[in-house]
Amino acid sequence: MAIERLVEPTVAENDSEEEKIEISLRPVTFGEYIGQEHLKNNIRLAIDAVKKRNDGTTLDHVLLYGPPGLGKTTMAGVIAHELGASLRVTSGPAIERAGDLASILTNLKDGDVLFIDEIHRLRRTVEEILYSAMEDYKLDIVIGKGPAARSVRLDLPKFTVIGATTRTGSLAGPLRDRFGIIHRLEYYKEPEIEQIINRTAGILNTKIVPEATGLLATRSRLTPRIANRLFKRVRDFADVNGDGIVDREMAVRSLELMEIDELGLDPADRNMLQLMYDNYGDRPVGLTTIAALTGDEASTIEDYYEPYLLQMGLIARTSRGRVVTEKGKSHLKNYKNKL
Ligand SMILES: Nc1ncnc2c1ncn2[C@@H]1O[C@H](COP(=O)(O)OP(=O)(O)OP(=O)(O)O)[C@@H](O)[C@H]1O
Ligand SMILES: [Mg+2]
Repeated sequence: MAIERLVEPTVAENDSEEEKIEISLRPVTFGEYIGQEHLKNNIRLAIDAVKKRNDGTTLDHVLLYGPPGLGKTTMAGVIAHELGASLRVTSGPAIERAGDLASILTNLKDGDVLFIDEIHRLRRTVEEILYSAMEDYKLDIVIGKGPAARSVRLDLPKFTVIGATTRTGSLAGPLRDRFGIIHRLEYYKEPEIEQIINRTAGILNTKIVPEATGLLATRSRLTPRIANRLFKRVRDFADVNGDGIVDREMAVRSLELMEIDELGLDPADRNMLQLMYDNYGDRPVGLTTIAALTGDEASTIEDYYEPYLLQMGLIARTSRGRVVTEKGKSHLKNYKNKL
């Protein structure tokens, strides 16, 4: 199925408990979407302009990029909601053939928002159809085969594409050029993560003391998805081992259980750092070699592990590969000393 789901996020009967929680936590309006002020201001302005003009033009295509879990998918939903538009969700790998995209596009209505997740993974043949669709709302299709084949140009409704990717580097130039609004999502500030944790606690009816919120925030890799994940684990821990209130002790003990250190690194992150250092010391090491050492895909290293380690200055990127920094080395040593 090329269209994976149609959202406004609503809770359906057959969703699992976990999915229901996920959906209830996902911000729907600009007001609920914490942080990323620069992005929100830009998009808000663009949406206000569309509404004010009210002449049938739609919001420019929007490209959101940045590390996983920072709120790209969430923002796509917020934009559609604020536009009063319906949102259709698909992803690069889900659109296998040009025909799949053609059927998605011809089923859109004026003003719809089409969210394409992992847009860097679109196939070339599909991407080419998207160019003219995004540029002048036309779809060029070939009907028939051989000498009888003819090309037909169909009019499409005026729609907005929101593309999301963890890597802009992998996006073809011509595709990138068709987005009027291009924005990088940044890691959140700690107070914003605290706000997100408190919001989540409120939605899940759990009491959390400020000290525990602060502690979780410092270990959430400045990432809302991780903040919510840690919070849920700590909440479970407090339900089982305490009276359900997340206090400092509950937070400390469950973070210890998860082996999450004061920088928010988990055992897999430290394992990667350690392997890099043990095998290469101060010498740079290539991505594929790191992947071979840890047994992950190179793309997993690049998308999931590396961005935060770079952000925290634990590794550095050089022209010849990645290298563990002094800070990275001392983090490994201190962690060892503490155990
Ligand atoms: N600004 C925010 N305020 C509050 N909660 C947020 C915010 N951004 C994200 N979240 C929460 O974090 C979760 C992860 O966000 P989301 O799925 O949008 O990330 P993503 O950038 O699309 O990640 P990926 O690259 O893995 O697709 C969401 O389910 C949402 O509950
Ligand atoms: Mg996403």
